[in-house]
Amino acid sequence: MADPAQTPDAARREFVRAGLLGGICAACAAAGVLTLSASETSGEAAAVAVAPMEKVLDELGPFAALSAVGGALPVEITIARRDGWRLRTRRQRVFLRRVKAGQTADCFSALSPICPHAGCSVEMAGDKKSFHCPCHDAQFAADGSLVEGPSPRGLDALEVSIAPRDDKPWLFIKWQDFVIGKAERRARA
Ligand code: FES
Repeated sequence: MADPAQTPDAARREFVRAGLLGGICAACAAAGVLTLSASETSGEAAAVAVAPMEKVLDELGPFAALSAVGGALPVEITIARRDGWRLRTRRQRVFLRRVKAGQTADCFSALSPICPHAGCSVEMAGDKKSFHCPCHDAQFAADGSLVEGPSPRGLDALEVSIAPRDDKPWLFIKWQDFVIGKAERRARA
């Protein structure tokens, strides 16, 4: 994985720079969902959500779910893609997880909520760690691996990185669409 901190030009191409606009909306925070909005793009097809690390590491508020190893948090992002002169945006929820203690990128992982079976939206299970697809009842473990159900593979992992922004470390999640219905994990062009 390219280190955006060391390859700023590549990072600019690969990552849509997004800003935390208006902070955490009260309704979303109450639902445990953090809303992040894209504010700027210089990328081509990729998109990311970003959050300042002090938010990620804050033990209060909606990020509390990430203070414990194994905790997961739904994060709602706005994905921006440039189509010629037009900037198209859409909302997308992803799951951000803490996999170990610490402040480096490998302490976190992110999962796509799109079920690899037929593309339904996966939901967090009652334990707030594992995942369930309501369409055909696929069950996924906390790490996204398939437990049971018709999905041909586990949930797709999204790339997480930490890079400086305004002299502070920010957490980046790179959005990616994957081919559904196949056992092999393949990114869609
Ligand atoms: Fe998720 Fe079928 S779409 S189990």
